[in-house]
Amino acid sequence: MYAGRASRQEKNLRKELEIMSHIHIAFNHVNFSYEKSAPILQDITFTAHEHDSIGLIGANGVGKSTLLKLLVGLNLNYEGSIRIEEIPVAKETLPKIREKIGYVFQDSDSQLFMPRVFDDVAFAPRNYGLPEEEVKKRVEKALAMTKIGHLKDKQIYKMSGGEKKLASIATILAMTPDIILMDEPSIALDPRNRRNLIHILNGFGHLKIIASHDLDLVLDTCSRVILMHEGRIIQDGGAKEILSDKELLESHGLELPFCMQGQSG
Ligand SMILES: Nc1ncnc2c1ncn2[C@@H]1O[C@H](COP(=O)(O)OP(=O)(O)O)[C@@H](O)[C@H]1O
Ligand SMILES: [Mg+2]
Repeated sequence: MYAGRASRQEKNLRKELEIMSHIHIAFNHVNFSYEKSAPILQDITFTAHEHDSIGLIGANGVGKSTLLKLLVGLNLNYEGSIRIEEIPVAKETLPKIREKIGYVFQDSDSQLFMPRVFDDVAFAPRNYGLPEEEVKKRVEKALAMTKIGHLKDKQIYKMSGGEKKLASIATILAMTPDIILMDEPSIALDPRNRRNLIHILNGFGHLKIIASHDLDLVLDTCSRVILMHEGRIIQDGGAKEILSDKELLESHGLELPFCMQGQSG
């Protein structure tokens, strides 16, 4: 009888370990401020798993971009714990962390730094030490996916906001990250490119977190939503449920996705 109980305990432990091994991101009681007097993120706790698709939503200034920046180690002086696949986000672990994450900045000018599109998209694969032939193949594939093959020799500073956004997205598609983070990816995209972005996002089966005001895009690409307000997580749950809750959204400075407006009854 005792042996039976032990093996049940063992089984439970194994199950727990298995669940833990699929946790890709773990925030535990994280606080962060840029300036001491003004706390920005407050007591942020959540976990995200291998195949989660998470929309990070909230009004301007609630801390969405700040949260994503903490994940890629752009601000390291946070309190609490942030782990990516069990690795704490810290100065020493940054190369490892950044290998796992593809991150699209809200502001494309912070992302793109080479003179030409091709070289920007090729930068990470080259840096990873891949042979030039493989680099070329990956760049061409990423440019084809984002439908900007015709821009490959274009100088970045001559491109429109939307073109730069697509080039930024291509830079992460040229790698094969375990996790993608996108900060306002549909900003500046025309309807056709926006639709293609949704197609790209839905084709990525691993963990993704998308911070966006575009709640229709979130609804089309995410099964889970984290709603933030004034630096805190207010709700974490099913996308359909949260994105159809007019009262909840409106009391936190948002509106129903367009596709849900006019459906009340
Ligand atoms: N570099 C910075 N220094 C000081 N305050 C900042 C800085 N970046 C952002 N903030 C402030 O942090 C808050 C959250 O900003 P942000 O994360 O960009 O919000 P969101 O992405 O949700 O719009 C805002 O009040 C913003 O003014
Ligand atoms: Mg932002």
